[in-house]
Amino acid sequence: MTILVTGGAGFIGSHTCVELMNAGHDVVVIDNLCNSSEKSLKRVEKITGKKVVFYKGDILDSDLLSKIFKENKIDCVIHFAGLKAVGESVHLPVEYYDNNIGGTINLVKEMRRADVKNIIFSSSATVYGNPKEIPITENCPKGTCTNPYGWTKWMIEQILTDVYTADNDWNVVLLRYFNPIGAHPSGLMGENPSGIPNNLMPYITQVAIGKLDHLNIFGNDYDTPDGTCVRDYIHVMDLASGHVAALKKVEKGSGLSIYNLGTGKGYSVLDIVNNFEKATGIKIPYEFAPRREGDVPQCYSDASKAKAELGWVAKYDILEMCRDSWNWQKTNPDGYEN
Ligand code: NAD
Ligand code: UFG
Repeated sequence: MTILVTGGAGFIGSHTCVELMNAGHDVVVIDNLCNSSEKSLKRVEKITGKKVVFYKGDILDSDLLSKIFKENKIDCVIHFAGLKAVGESVHLPVEYYDNNIGGTINLVKEMRRADVKNIIFSSSATVYGNPKEIPITENCPKGTCTNPYGWTKWMIEQILTDVYTADNDWNVVLLRYFNPIGAHPSGLMGENPSGIPNNLMPYITQVAIGKLDHLNIFGNDYDTPDGTCVRDYIHVMDLASGHVAALKKVEKGSGLSIYNLGTGKGYSVLDIVNNFEKATGIKIPYEFAPRREGDVPQCYSDASKAKAELGWVAKYDILEMCRDSWNWQKTNPDGYEN
């Protein structure tokens, strides 16, 4: 199949391009590079030995989308393009709603015009809010988000659900990611955060390489086994293979389907520090700091639905996730800029 990957130069998109191409699919990417580098796509080509068709541009640009659908026979869209910084979204809500929701509406309009009715969407466990049950199944009701970024995911899920309700010819797969970390095992591709990272793993790797002095652990008085927050960390290559599995489901006719993509295991912040030290032999100095606003104490998945219906399970363990995150940081201290 030929897959249009929006946001394909980004962290998860680029790793997914590798897995799609390794599975025999052709890949067309649209990305405005607002949070990524075209170099990631060069690395995709290096790893796979195949060409990526790349359009530098915005999903808000209808003319460009229309041109892409005319020039390529697209079978399915995997939609990663979006702004994703939780804290930034609190200060720039209009920009987030415009880019993420406006961009998706524009994309869906152009898909409809081109008669492409298959879409896999990057949603997030954030739509569960403070989850009503742990581990979280897909039946857990969507909750109240704590920031505009989360609400964009929440609302895009609703929009795509309504698109499906209005026209059952669509196949819509909503993938709710838990916490993606790790990097391609080659060390050629990984996460490329700009500025000081907000997320735990890139922060730890930057402490490990000496760019940052120590890790601040946000809160040690939560109702969890060691007092620090618990998350379901998943290797980005597992996440990528989850998209290939979802695509098989689309090919057979998925209708509207929702899947958690997680490992089903919860690790605390201190567990991650300890596993990182074990995997790399590098000590991570840390200090306890006040709780971060909006953090939920525990968030980990029940991943059995994806196993049963997609035949997909996460394969990488936490030590491999730490190893690959570090391998990428160590060999590319400045990300794609060096
Ligand atoms: P990323 O920022 O690395 O990738 C997103 C890509 O989209 C970037 O390359 C960016 O340049 C591009 N982009 C943004 N707006 C665009 C627009 N209007 N037009 C064209 N391109 C645009 O982020 P990621 O971590 O790879 O995340 C991919 C998707 O998965 C996002 O939708 C994100 O919200 C979602 N997600 C990420 C996480 C996470 O922790 N990384 C968790 C859950 C869901
Ligand atoms: N943390 C620290 N110190 C740091 C950074 C993070 O202690 O410097 C802690 C956080 O408080 C949290 C845990 O590490 O307890 C994980 O934090 P991340 O920022 O890495 O991830 P989140 O769980 O907050 O959020 C991630 C994505 C969101 C997504 C959400 C749910 O960043 O996009 O998972 O899928 F919505």
